[in-house]
Amino acid sequence: MKYQKTTRVVLIGTGFVGSSYAYACLNQGVVDEMVLIDRDTKKAEGDAMDLNHGIPYGSPMKIWAGSYKDCKDADLVVITAGANQGPGETRLDLIEKNTQIFKEIVEEVMANGFDGIFLIATNPVDVLSYATWKFSGLPPERVIGSGTILDTARFRYLLGEYFNVDARNVHAYIMGEHGDTELPLWSHADIGGQPILQLVNDEKHHAKMEDLDELFLKVRDAAYHIIERKGATYYGIALGLVRLTKAILRNENSILTVSALLEGQYEEENVYIGVPAIVNGNGIREVVELSLNEQEKKQFSYSANTLKEAAASIIK
Ligand code: LAC
Repeated sequence: MKYQKTTRVVLIGTGFVGSSYAYACLNQGVVDEMVLIDRDTKKAEGDAMDLNHGIPYGSPMKIWAGSYKDCKDADLVVITAGANQGPGETRLDLIEKNTQIFKEIVEEVMANGFDGIFLIATNPVDVLSYATWKFSGLPPERVIGSGTILDTARFRYLLGEYFNVDARNVHAYIMGEHGDTELPLWSHADIGGQPILQLVNDEKHHAKMEDLDELFLKVRDAAYHIIERKGATYYGIALGLVRLTKAILRNENSILTVSALLEGQYEEENVYIGVPAIVNGNGIREVVELSLNEQEKKQFSYSANTLKEAAASIIK
């Protein structure tokens, strides 16, 4: 029996998102080894102890509070470290403080011989994915941002509720910035193969476009509504990160809406932005290029320009 390589994830940042991600990985038996790094070393040690005590009821996993030296043998470095949105704060408002944090982290990871894949979750995730690509010098396919993976999940969940179908039978994407300029791809949204736009004003389904437009706004603004209630978001994004971890470590070739570098796709280049992409053990195999209608093209271009301006402001 061929020996299966041990998979290792190094998680940098054990705050709400990071610790929820680590717990979900343990629960779903996704990783063989997880190394926790946080500038608050006591927090990382406490999380490792707490998680280890759940192993008898979870899945076998080696978890320890480690150091950047553990990056050398890591398949994946997941970064959730950084400041998160306060009430009413946009994700782009975090750009200055988090870029400096990222420069230090990425340089330290690379100085310790990392040669795997980065998975970025800290906001503004598109700009920080671009920054990680620049700071690391890795090929772009090995720097992946969580992008609109959570927005797409929110979109599918709310569409499933609206049409009273299992969200897993809703195929719909949110593209663009993980933020205020994101856009719904109505022209490619379907439920069990039925285009959603054909269900609008259909006497059997009674779907109304104004309801769907309102549903999209709930997706786009979800984080604000959650933050004003509980101070932060973490379960949804953590599960999105686990989904991406599985796609990478299991070499799935799954199509997920991640933040990827565009090199001409969608008539854009030199920008990290949320697009559907095929994700496998080598990172991003390819960006899936869909035909956008005129309105979607305009919205996507606006979103890409917003991100380019933001990135240009911090990465010279
Ligand atoms: C949210 C954070 C992850 O959308 O940006 O909940």
